[in-house]
Amino acid sequence: MNNYSEKFEKMKVAGKLAANCLDMVTEYIKPGLSTNKIDQLCYEFIRDNGGYSAPLYYRGFEKSLCTSLNYVICHGIPSERELEENDILNIDVTAIVDGYYGDTSRMFSVGEISIKAKNLIDATYESLMSAIKILGPGVKLGDIGNEIQSFVETKGFSVVRDFCGHGISNKFHEPPNVLHYGKKNTGLELQPGMTFTIEPMINSGKYDAKVLKDGWTAVTKDKSLSAQFEHTVGITENGYEIFTESVKGYRKPPYNK
Ligand code: MF3
Ligand code: CO
Ligand code: CO
Repeated sequence: MNNYSEKFEKMKVAGKLAANCLDMVTEYIKPGLSTNKIDQLCYEFIRDNGGYSAPLYYRGFEKSLCTSLNYVICHGIPSERELEENDILNIDVTAIVDGYYGDTSRMFSVGEISIKAKNLIDATYESLMSAIKILGPGVKLGDIGNEIQSFVETKGFSVVRDFCGHGISNKFHEPPNVLHYGKKNTGLELQPGMTFTIEPMINSGKYDAKVLKDGWTAVTKDKSLSAQFEHTVGITENGYEIFTESVKGYRKPPYNK
């Protein structure tokens, strides 16, 4: 036992619910499904399993999760837009259970997608996992950013600068900011008990972002594709734990193989 084990236990419950929600919705992802339907399915799943969807009414956000399609970087608002063949989609779910938060997102592909889109999704996933693998006490935030940035830039992709990961526990967003770019051996040093998200947003073109007039939807300025994966993690005495891993083993699309 240690002074953060209760926090970790609660965050594991919230994280597992968020991950289970993404597992649940996976089989529904097909052409013709509206992003509002995704919102409804996930809202009901989280409610029926003892949680609450954190984005709902968060700072005026009016849906229970974010659905970010194609050139949307993050914070896409569910709507009547139906999924179409060739779309790439991020679904970002945050569940609150017993006051603690679990925040996770995955990419989904709809039907056949381009090789370029597939490569972007794969690189984004691998960049998140390669950053997670180095986590532990003594590692610095700059090491995380450097790991992600160097990985994706080698592949010709770019790291979005305007949004970052964040501390999370019994608040949705708290310090520190977890940047997805940076220099080795710089920034805050990780310590056991810290809990935060890593959620790289990677563009196939330039990293520049802009927010649409709805005040939420962040898109690539050059209309290039963008991908994102997110896990909530905790730092332990000798490494890390991932709180939002898929029970079904869904890591990156395609999920049917
Ligand atoms: N889940 C997002 C994150 O990873 C935050 C969404 S806030 C919302 O931090 F209001 F846009 F839903
Ligand atoms: Co987050
Ligand atoms: Co999120």
